[in-house]
Amino acid sequence: MAGSIPRPFIDDLLNRVDIVEIIDARVPLKKKGREYWACCPFHDEKSPSFSVSQNKQFYHCFGCQQHGNAIGFLMEYDHMDFVESIETLAQHIGVEIPYEKGQYSQSRQSTKSTPQSESLMNTLQQCSEYYQRQLSQSPEAIDYLEQRGISGQTSKNFSIGFAPKGWNNLSGDNTHLIDSGMLIKNDSGKTYDRFRHRLMFPIRDRRGRTIAFGGRVIDPQDNPKYLNSPESPVFHKGEEIYGLFELKKANTQIDQIFVTEGYMDVVALAEHGITTAVATLGTAINDHQIEKLFRLSRKLVFCFDADKAGRKAAWRALENSLSLIKEGRIARFLFLPEGHDPDTFIKQFGKDTFSQQVEEASSLSKFLIDGLLTEGEILSMEGRTTFIDKLIVYLSRIPLEPLKNQIIQESEKLAAIKNDTHSLDRLKGTTKIDFSKPMPEQHWTPARLAINLLLQKPALAQSTGNLEDLAEADIPGIELLLQILDQVHEQPDISTQNLLDRFAGHENEAHLYKIAAMTPAMLNETDEIKPMFDDAIKKLRPKYAESRFMKLQEKLMSGHKLDENELHEYRQILRRDKK
Ligand code: UTP
Ligand code: MN
Repeated sequence: MAGSIPRPFIDDLLNRVDIVEIIDARVPLKKKGREYWACCPFHDEKSPSFSVSQNKQFYHCFGCQQHGNAIGFLMEYDHMDFVESIETLAQHIGVEIPYEKGQYSQSRQSTKSTPQSESLMNTLQQCSEYYQRQLSQSPEAIDYLEQRGISGQTSKNFSIGFAPKGWNNLSGDNTHLIDSGMLIKNDSGKTYDRFRHRLMFPIRDRRGRTIAFGGRVIDPQDNPKYLNSPESPVFHKGEEIYGLFELKKANTQIDQIFVTEGYMDVVALAEHGITTAVATLGTAINDHQIEKLFRLSRKLVFCFDADKAGRKAAWRALENSLSLIKEGRIARFLFLPEGHDPDTFIKQFGKDTFSQQVEEASSLSKFLIDGLLTEGEILSMEGRTTFIDKLIVYLSRIPLEPLKNQIIQESEKLAAIKNDTHSLDRLKGTTKIDFSKPMPEQHWTPARLAINLLLQKPALAQSTGNLEDLAEADIPGIELLLQILDQVHEQPDISTQNLLDRFAGHENEAHLYKIAAMTPAMLNETDEIKPMFDDAIKKLRPKYAESRFMKLQEKLMSGHKLDENELHEYRQILRRDKK
């Protein structure tokens, strides 16, 4: 398994699998009308708002807005990554993936299975088993774990082991032991064990393969306290997350994930029944890791120490999260009392008190605002200007309008801001949507209707002629419509599912799925599609004319002359309006 997966293969795969079959095997579906329905597996609900369309080969939840195709469903529901999901679907219909040599998709796989990496992982696995055997024979290590309140079962779940004293305990293929970082070679060419007299935490990839270790001293005199494996062909520190494999193994539904700072935090929380904690490997969490976690759970709780270093780490996590908060995703920040980390806290106060602290964790908005406020500063005009300057920079990195609004609303509550119209105006200027008014119901504008119908039957695009000129018109949705038309013109026989897939990760993706998921009430038969589509397109034109007319008139009123073409257009619109 190596290289990238060719686009045509993915298209073909999406055309050949049946999403209803894939989802039904995991979430039983009931047919009602055109679509299949179930209670949404991605949020709590009592009546079904999760719909699966066989025609359009996608799912959409009217409650939580989760949506996607068969690939996306497996990624969300079975917590697979992109490649795994494709592998599963390919296997389902019995085809081989024609991997091609390429660079881009390799970064999507954390660990490639090349012959070399296979043997390194085998070596690491053997070391892990050796360390576990040593632990069972070491009263010293068993004592240590006991002291820290970790049961035999929990240490087994995490495959915790023990590296005994001594410089040459490991045996096996020396090259592999060196390449995987288990042995160190000194200047005179001699090798010795990297980990000695340490409690060993294996770091496993998402499939449970051992790719590295973290080792903790058990003699407080020794240092450093923690030692990690070095980077190797199978271990890239910045990509891995400790505890992810164990988390997936212990949970099918993941309500929220706790992101902690240390191995022991993960293990201690699991000991107390919280099996959805992970830790970074002694580094600040990056956006790649945050995105990975958000794909597993829409709620993340960052748990950091209350000290200065912890605050700093939390701020980095906040900065790296901003652009990743999409609809339904929530990040919160938990600061335990000074001197505690999740491990010591839960050990001393128990699970319920911990959960209570979690309830009270800061929202992202609150943490952001608090972090930008310097004491007293906001009381002066200058201070308020600085605060809002800083806030605007952060707001500009947030793609999700409701979150932006929440932050703005929360800043407006600050007394000093509330009484300052200038500050209020600056804040209000940063967003367009007024959330004090209810969101309008979805209604069928001609553009929306055209998009919906086009998604159902992409071949309709052939009859529109050239709509490029509409791009200048000020009609909501026209840009998206033109983008879809572009796609279809590029590939006239494209299927609905492939067309939707072209917009994966696109800024309008959610909007598009929302439109695609609706069935226009006035549509009863499939042969009504074409006349309805033509009509919608026709209706776009007067709108266009109207906005062009306004523009031309504006030009005239401001004392400019219209050129020959513009004059012609102006007269035409006037004539048409008279009819
Ligand atoms: P902490 O020192 O906060 O670890 O470091 P901890 O989990 O609370 O450890 P205990 O409770 O004393 O056993 C947090 C993380 O930072 C990295 C490790 O990944 C550790 O889990 N670290 C820490 C190192 O890499 N080296 C060190 O010397 C210390
Ligand atoms: Mn600790």
